[in-house]
Amino acid sequence: MDRSQGRVTRLAPEEAGEPATVSGHRGLMLEEPLIFEQGEIGRCGVDLPAPPPVANRLGGLERRQPIGLPGLSEPQVVRHYTRLSQRNYGIDSGLFPLGSCTMKHNPRLNERMARLPGFGDIHPLQPVSTVQGALALIHALAHWLKQLTGMPAVALSPAAGAHGELAGIMTIRAALTARGDARRKVLVPESAHGTNPATAASCGYAVESIPATPQGRVDLAALEAKLGPDVAAIMITNPNTCGLFEPEMIEIAAAIHAAGAFLYCDGANFNAIVGRVRPADLGIDVMHINLHKTFSTPHGGGGPGSGPIVLSAALAPYAPLPKVVADGGAFRVIEHRTGEAAQAFGRLKAFHGQMGMFVRALSYMMSHGADGLRQVSSDAVLNANYLLAALKDVLTPAFDGPCMHEALFDDGFLKDTGVSTLDFAKALIDEGFHPMTMYFPLVVHGALLMEPTETESRQSLDQFIAVVRALAQRAKSGDAAHFHAAPRLTPRRRLDETAAARKPVLRWKPSEPLKAAE
Ligand SMILES: Cc1ncc(COP(=O)(O)O)c(C=O)c1O
Repeated sequence: MDRSQGRVTRLAPEEAGEPATVSGHRGLMLEEPLIFEQGEIGRCGVDLPAPPPVANRLGGLERRQPIGLPGLSEPQVVRHYTRLSQRNYGIDSGLFPLGSCTMKHNPRLNERMARLPGFGDIHPLQPVSTVQGALALIHALAHWLKQLTGMPAVALSPAAGAHGELAGIMTIRAALTARGDARRKVLVPESAHGTNPATAASCGYAVESIPATPQGRVDLAALEAKLGPDVAAIMITNPNTCGLFEPEMIEIAAAIHAAGAFLYCDGANFNAIVGRVRPADLGIDVMHINLHKTFSTPHGGGGPGSGPIVLSAALAPYAPLPKVVADGGAFRVIEHRTGEAAQAFGRLKAFHGQMGMFVRALSYMMSHGADGLRQVSSDAVLNANYLLAALKDVLTPAFDGPCMHEALFDDGFLKDTGVSTLDFAKALIDEGFHPMTMYFPLVVHGALLMEPTETESRQSLDQFIAVVRALAQRAKSGDAAHFHAAPRLTPRRRLDETAAARKPVLRWKPSEPLKAAE
């Protein structure tokens, strides 16, 4: 079988010292050709009725050649996607310690709620009178977010964390424009998530970087030195991407406000402080929250994100629409920039946002209750510190002292071993663990950022710790070859990541024309 592009990169069985198989499969791990390599042109897997005889109204624009898509039967399609799904590693498969991503368990109760017909089967263009229950849910979620953050307003439509950043910075820009004070700069600490400077730049601001202190926190003196009449905002992540709490937030807020600028907080790491710290008390003007992190809605390939923003009273009038309001026992939707919403900067999405995520997040909040959410952040911090404490003698912690929700190490422990952070991560895959985040944050050399989240048990943390310790000892013992060859046991072996990034093959091209069905 020609597998020219779905290439097998693992060692041939003979090379690996294993018996060859006739099929090329190994045990129940099946080699999977691309769907194009399995299909035949002109084949149809379903029985469709003949089209009714209607006049052709395409005016000569009808397709003249076959489209070239593979035709497969239903069982072939089901098997193809089932096999691919079995290759996917997700939070339902095992520990996913990807720092800064909060890959926590997605409770099945939330899934059940999201599928209730009153939420799952409605349409955003239905008359408002027929979706009062859904609007009540949106309103309740907004209420919980305001309670948990202490902020008076919320805009729910942003579809991800980075989209929330965009909403926040556009809100700030609208507020500045309204007071006739166009400013040009946004300050961003050097440990920031890449989306922060990208957001500011895409809104047309010049981005200026603030250095970190040797303790991994924002350097307040350096920040103050940058403040001036041209600064629109600062974008700070708290807890920051080094997994540390910024203890000088109140001083930072005071300095920013004295300069007439706004304090944007990247609240992607709210998981570490939910129920314990109210961002409003820190002087924050606007903050996004990743529902797909803190509030356990599926993250990454598992589903769409949701990144609502919470806002201070000063910024609330400029926030994006639509907005659900309770009015005398019923709910209505403010959609247009008129009357009470005349100052809103506009819309980011056609409708309210990710309804399915709203249902899941509210379900998570209500099933935990206020005390349960407080426990969430305590356990997230406890688990990260458990990892840090258990690994600090074999790895090199990036900073002294305890961490918040994620433990950060540098590559000092790999010095002179010939093993890089990347090699170390690949070796973890052979051991059955998704690697931690690598080389981020940039302020730490060869960073390894591990975020266990509160949903890992002590048993799974202990397994992970045992593996990381053993690998660290192996690297130090001089067995670099083991790491350079990893991963060995995966369907695909190590790919050339530079070539993949610089010369990506984005389109499958047949080595020979697809066969026509017989
Ligand atoms: C600190 C931080 N900010 C922003 C984002 C962006 O969020 P999203 O991926 O939902 O756009 C992330 C993503 O994980 C993050 O960790």
